[in-house]
Amino acid sequence: MEINIENETDELFGFDYEKLICDVVNASIDYVKCPYEAVVNVTIVDNEAIHTINKEHRNIDKATDVLSFPMVNYETAGDFSILDGDEYNDCFDPDSGELILGDIVISKDKVILQAEEYGHSTKRELGFLVAHSMLHLFGYDHMEADEQSEMEKMQKELLLSLGITRDTDFNSEIKSSKADIDNMDLILEAKKAMNNAYSPYSQFKVGAAIATKTGQIFTGCNVENASYGATICAERCAAVKSISEGCKDFVKIAIVSSLGDFTYPCGICRQFLSEFNENLIVILSNNKGEIKEIALKNLLPEAFNM
Ligand code: THU
Repeated sequence: MEINIENETDELFGFDYEKLICDVVNASIDYVKCPYEAVVNVTIVDNEAIHTINKEHRNIDKATDVLSFPMVNYETAGDFSILDGDEYNDCFDPDSGELILGDIVISKDKVILQAEEYGHSTKRELGFLVAHSMLHLFGYDHMEADEQSEMEKMQKELLLSLGITRDTDFNSEIKSSKADIDNMDLILEAKKAMNNAYSPYSQFKVGAAIATKTGQIFTGCNVENASYGATICAERCAAVKSISEGCKDFVKIAIVSSLGDFTYPCGICRQFLSEFNENLIVILSNNKGEIKEIALKNLLPEAFNM
């Protein structure tokens, strides 16, 4: 896998944008089940430069947010079987044998402006544009309404698989007093579940609410036992309830406790949840109404995998 990133603008983004780009490119390749090792070139430019490229290549005399130049002319989007034919040899790097997917050009000015307009982070905006453009490199388009809705669905799923949502500055720990309504709903459900905690030994009540990709919420509380080791944490209780109902595409989990302070999931729960989504968004809430969002990956880097 080769991802060549060039930033032709003077300034840098205030975060590790190269890692973000690589994460989205890799996730996109996995998402469409591309069977080849691939090469992608990403260039960050300013509005003036993207304007020039847009005029040159598409005869459109204005700046835009992202331009995609796919190398492969797919018959059907996302169908890589045509690449078996000799006529597609040019699409492969002669030295490495990797599939050259194409080039992505992104305007940094537009990333910042659009993030402000939509009221989300520049990380989310850049992640979105890379995902969108990657789908173009796989032949997807949005000329027709049905194509557009398919592409939108794919972008959403892809970004969600990385924990990139409109309300989350994934990969970083944020403390904010203001919560998104969905997060508040989830926290409320976790609080309700906490009331059912069975914790006669520790007197410590924990509640959890886990949200799935399809928008379902499953709740859990800690259930203790006189044989202490048999105790089940709230987080695993919620996850197991969900899994046993056939839902394991977890997106986020809210955790609250009777401590009143932020309660982080224990090591076993981190490992347990990581199995289903290492990018799960963990939402913690204290009794001051403050909220923290952390990607599970940051709570359990290098999780055990088999
Ligand atoms: N507990 C949880 O429910 N979740 C955690 O992540 C940490 C610990 C519960 C288990 C036990 O009933 C009590 O808290 C004290 O360890």
